[in-house]
Amino acid sequence: ILTKLQKECATPLPVLRHVADAMAADMRAGLAADGGSDLQMILSFVDSLPTGNEKGLFYALDLGGTNFRVLRVQLGGKDERVIASEFEQVSIPEELMFGTSEELFDFIASGLAKFAEKEGGKYHLPHGRKREIGFTFSFPVRQTSIDSGILIKWTKGFAVSGTAGKDVVACLNEGMERQGLDMRVSALVNDTVGTLAGARYWDDDVMVAVILGTGTNACYVECADAIPKLQSHNSSSGRTIINTEWGAFSTGIPLTQFDRDMDAESINPGEQIFEKTISGMYLGEIVRRVLLKMAEASDLFGESNLEKLSTQFVLRTPHVCAMQQDNSEELEAVEAILQDVAGVKSDLNARKIVLEVCDTIAKRGGRLAGAGIVGILQKMDEDTQGQIYGKRTVVAMDGGLYENYPQYRRYLKDAVTELLGSEISKNIIIEHTKDGSGIGAALLAASNSKYEHDF
Ligand code: BG6
Ligand code: GLC
Repeated sequence: ILTKLQKECATPLPVLRHVADAMAADMRAGLAADGGSDLQMILSFVDSLPTGNEKGLFYALDLGGTNFRVLRVQLGGKDERVIASEFEQVSIPEELMFGTSEELFDFIASGLAKFAEKEGGKYHLPHGRKREIGFTFSFPVRQTSIDSGILIKWTKGFAVSGTAGKDVVACLNEGMERQGLDMRVSALVNDTVGTLAGARYWDDDVMVAVILGTGTNACYVECADAIPKLQSHNSSSGRTIINTEWGAFSTGIPLTQFDRDMDAESINPGEQIFEKTISGMYLGEIVRRVLLKMAEASDLFGESNLEKLSTQFVLRTPHVCAMQQDNSEELEAVEAILQDVAGVKSDLNARKIVLEVCDTIAKRGGRLAGAGIVGILQKMDEDTQGQIYGKRTVVAMDGGLYENYPQYRRYLKDAVTELLGSEISKNIIIEHTKDGSGIGAALLAASNSKYEHDF
């Protein structure tokens, strides 16, 4: 089973090249027409990125990863930049992921209300001015303007009823009204877009942002005249940010029966195939499926009862990652996780096999993510006659998977270097921007503020 798995998950250079080329081609097809490819290539209505001149007090909400965050940022303009920033985060209660839209937005609005109360008279806004919010909502949204957008569908295991097809800003406004909170959403952004904005605030060379966390996605800076399907959109800067929604990409990805079974049993079968192969929500589950199959077919875990190991999503990506960090001779951490989380006993040989399975799945994920990044860079470079590969270009990365999984990070970077060659890769900086999307959303709320920026 292990040998077959390794063979089917292999990502030698030709496979990576095919994935990168297909990503670039799907991007073009998605820009040509809605529904033209797996990639939705969503217009973000963000036509200018932060300059550093943004000033004032802004709030940000960040919903879509493992946690829900609320931030308050005081921006001081060119010289002072971020004067103060405070945030709170809570994990999203699982029942809310399957509840009603009202319940979810009440939860968000009440978190915001509690946080806003703690402002404690520190900031005074001129009479008649509402506090403004940048709302990071990390799901596919058909933006209708910078401050409105319709939820296309839920991803990442969310199945909240009554939100798809609705304007999520209107849903939030209703939630705020129910909480008696009078604030105004000035920018609605995807987490990738928030990350790009947050990273660009500090570094002008940031052109792409990628999230590798519970889910995965990427956005990038596009020339407004390279978007045939959006001829009517006038961008004053000539550029705009496109949210690719690359989680839905599917061409050329090496898949196994374990992936197909997981997809078939998921709440969104046939959708988000790239996401299901490379992102944090799924890696642990793929490993679990492989281990279960091995345990059923052999005496890998001796006489252990397989009930726990048979439970979907019992083994999470952080467990897989923690096992891979075990450098002890007897692999004690691997043993403990297998016992505590999966309920199975293991000898040293079994633990080594488990580690090989973890590595195979993490390696495929990291390398495919790297190929996806190269696909985006390649498309941008072709369209700008070498402006991307020929100079310093930064890819801003965020998300728990990228942040916490060193082997995955290394596989990703290796794949980028293999694909680009060592000379070009020197110009491509893949950089972690921690929690940038909250600050990014606040910055975009500032640049899209309905008021003067003079306080
Ligand atoms: C965070 C960003 O750092 O990473 C969020 O601020 C983003 O906007 C998140 O959604 C991804 O998180 P996770 O929990 O999926 O790894
Ligand atoms: C999912 C969402 C996407 C988000 C990504 C990372 O793929 O559909 O909007 O950016 O997860 O959080």
